[in-house]
Amino acid sequence: MTASFNEILLKSPAGATTVKPVPLTAIGWDAIQQLPALLQQFGNGPALIIADPALVTLPIIRPVLQLLDQQQIAYTIYSDLVPEPTVETGQKAIDFGRSGNFKLVIGFGGGSALDMAKLVAVFIQNPGPVSAYLNLTGTKKIEHRGLPKILIPTTSGTGTEVTNISVLALERTKDVVVHDYLLADAAIVDPVFTLSVPPRVTAATGADALTHAIEAFISVNATPYSDGLALQAIRLIGSTLRQAVTDGSNREARTAMAYGSYLAGMAFFNAGVGAIHALAYPLGGQFHLAHGESNAVLIPYVLGYILPSCAARLAVVYEALGFSEATISMQEAAEKCIRVLAALTRDIGIPETLAGFQIPEAATAALAADGILQKRLLARCPMELSEEQVHEIYARAFTGIYLH
Ligand SMILES: NC(=O)c1ccc[n+]([C@@H]2O[C@H](COP(=O)([O-])OP(=O)(O)OC[C@H]3O[C@@H](n4cnc5c(N)ncnc54)[C@H](O)[C@@H]3O)[C@@H](O)[C@H]2O)c1
Ligand SMILES: [Zn+2]
Repeated sequence: MTASFNEILLKSPAGATTVKPVPLTAIGWDAIQQLPALLQQFGNGPALIIADPALVTLPIIRPVLQLLDQQQIAYTIYSDLVPEPTVETGQKAIDFGRSGNFKLVIGFGGGSALDMAKLVAVFIQNPGPVSAYLNLTGTKKIEHRGLPKILIPTTSGTGTEVTNISVLALERTKDVVVHDYLLADAAIVDPVFTLSVPPRVTAATGADALTHAIEAFISVNATPYSDGLALQAIRLIGSTLRQAVTDGSNREARTAMAYGSYLAGMAFFNAGVGAIHALAYPLGGQFHLAHGESNAVLIPYVLGYILPSCAARLAVVYEALGFSEATISMQEAAEKCIRVLAALTRDIGIPETLAGFQIPEAATAALAADGILQKRLLARCPMELSEEQVHEIYARAFTGIYLH
């Protein structure tokens, strides 16, 4: 590739950045066997298990419960949860946590359950309603660390086991609670738990992880540290997501996706996600799209729009996705990158336009009005976007044409 490409990629930031902490992590096949050692370090219970309701009656959770029984740790399971949880769902879980005498929280499930486990562990020791702590509208600050928490993801997607946020759905959009106390004390990322994830959820969650890595890589806050994490995540996810969707029993694909989503989580915890997530939140809030699907459908339209601000970096993403053409220009490589990403999301079964999700075209103004409120996320986008431009991107997402 060209010299200017290297100049951009290898340029370190002028100032210092703080590398965010990584929870103690057991990762890889059978990592769950390390639960007893982590329990010794982080507390002997009684434990409150915040678990995905679809998983509590299935054999999948048994190894966790057996290990707790072997350690003679008392536990209570709470699973009154919904996917893409609302503030009310979070508050109910917190109220339950406050009513017991728990010493440890264990989260088991996808991002929805783990985000609630993080909230419960922290808000057991912080007063008042969780709504008072929301990023967009809250007035209160978290002051107390809360209970120790061990997070066990069962999807390869959100990376919440290594981030300091919990996401809550509001009526029209989504918001987050952000604080370093929301970080896990320990994470167990064992791909064995992802074997049962159905193809549609594998596709959505995998696309979410890929979006985390790409948005971290093009973020204005990217550093050589986050770049390393993001690029390796893109390589892993780009090369195995299709296989994980079509053959969910493939252990190698599931393991690569587990590593990929974990690394992507660390990348975006450090560099942030941007405009794709900002525009995805209102799709989740207003039309209840799964988080991963709302990101996936927007990838080509947002990247196509902001391409002039990040062509060199998208050219590198193209390489990380496995393509290398010596004679190609940076602009061509960036455009091809977006085409490859669009083909990937299409191949894993995600609709290519917002119309494919039965969203009416008349909704674009209301979506833009909520999308532009996500200042925290839009601030990481390499192109500054006005409400009009956000509106234009949503409008393009109905056309199927992402490169103009
Ligand atoms: N905190 C963060 O850093 C962060 C980052 C991204 C997304 N999120 C949030 O995470 C949530 C989405 O999480 P998600 O994408 O993991 O999906 P999810 O947790 O909502 O799960 C999706 C579906 O998959 C099922 N499922 C989960 N694991 C399974 C398994 N092993 N086998 C079979 N079915 C399984 C669930 O029951 C559910 O029906 C959203 O609320 C999103 O906003 C949080
Ligand atoms: Zn996400």
